[in-house]
Amino acid sequence: MIKFKNSPLNMEDYQKHSEGIKKLHLAMEEGRAAGSDYLGWLYYASSFDKNEVDRIKTHAKKIRDQADVLVVAGIGGSYLGADAIIRALELSFGRSKPEIIFCGNNLSGAYLEELISYLDGKNFYVNVISKSGRTLETALAFRFLKDLLIEKHGSDYYKYIYATTDSSSGALRKQVVEEGFVSFEVPGNVGGRFSVMTPVGLFPLAVAGLNIDEFLEGFIEGEKDFSSENLIDNLAYQYGLVRNHYYNQGKLMEILVTYEPALGQFAEWFKQLFGESEGKDGRGIFPISVANTTDLHSLGQIIQDGKKIFFETVLDLTKKTSLSVPSSHMEDDLGYLEGERVGVMTKNAQLATLIAHEEAGVPNLILELDDYSERGLGYLMYFMMRACAMTSYLQGVNPFDQPGVEAYKTNMLALMGNPSYAQYRQALVDKLVSKGLI
Ligand code: PA5
Repeated sequence: MIKFKNSPLNMEDYQKHSEGIKKLHLAMEEGRAAGSDYLGWLYYASSFDKNEVDRIKTHAKKIRDQADVLVVAGIGGSYLGADAIIRALELSFGRSKPEIIFCGNNLSGAYLEELISYLDGKNFYVNVISKSGRTLETALAFRFLKDLLIEKHGSDYYKYIYATTDSSSGALRKQVVEEGFVSFEVPGNVGGRFSVMTPVGLFPLAVAGLNIDEFLEGFIEGEKDFSSENLIDNLAYQYGLVRNHYYNQGKLMEILVTYEPALGQFAEWFKQLFGESEGKDGRGIFPISVANTTDLHSLGQIIQDGKKIFFETVLDLTKKTSLSVPSSHMEDDLGYLEGERVGVMTKNAQLATLIAHEEAGVPNLILELDDYSERGLGYLMYFMMRACAMTSYLQGVNPFDQPGVEAYKTNMLALMGNPSYAQYRQALVDKLVSKGLI
């Protein structure tokens, strides 16, 4: 289903790397690679309990029948996947019912305040998602939402809360047990950014009215197509290898290029997947994204003429459209396009940009996919996960941890007065005072 085009490596290059890739693949499959406690995503979709899928659908239907809004509280891997798929597949204009709103993914008081007032008078449910059950942003948003539900429904408030969390540990699981919310399990052996095909993603998707069977099918097809140890047959590993090839040539940033505005959040998911997995031990390709042709009128300039530290991965995936340019009596210089399909114009813009950027020293890879649906997007996500694991191993890092995010958390929790971080507080305050920042 995916075509990987414009690779700088040929068959001979792939053959040269095939032994090395096979070794890394086998280490991963056999649980000998770094982070092997978090490889549950590899075959999760094909082994996922059908009864659990049914339970997700049953609860989702109840919300779809009754609610105006589902508020999903989660951050990082606990929201980006669902947000990506919902935004990709919902209509661009007009609100669907129930509307899906994400929160708990920032620390903006204004955002929370607006949300609280928006929810006034609306029938809303909450899906709080946190694997650890102790993430500050999510827990804070959830506290406000729970208060609102208590105000609205009294002792029945818990009937409006669905919690997705670890099966036994964390503050959120404790609340599930004590307060009786319906809950779903985040598997212990699947990390946040690899969890979109678990209840973390499936429940919001189902409430949004998307076909989660098809989404899982896309993952299952991905498992079949991208689990080969043989580099020649495995496009995900080829993409992973080529990314590493460009990185070794000093292309330190990868730009994911999309031509469909609805894929904006997909790019955010991509950035988290690769950035949080690869960026450690002083290594990693910095992932960024552009939404073309919009960004050709902004970042396009620096891509074309700036420092040559980028390569681009063009996602050739667009919604189907039969729209063509109407005839007109206006003098708008578009006469030569009359009757042309807008989809063909998009493709021409993509090809024109590719040549312009390549000629300026910015290599372009193309990932072509013709299935813009739950299935196609699930397939693409699995492809990306496999590629990400492979590039990380090629760079010698563990794809499944995120030690770097602890530094800001420790400082933030210490500054906010969390008693468990009290020992860090004074030194931080002193530093901030010496910089004149407090
Ligand atoms: O990919 C990851 O593991 C992270 O982005 C987490 O998903 C994020 O930090 C949220 O964690 P939690 O689900 O424990 O609240």
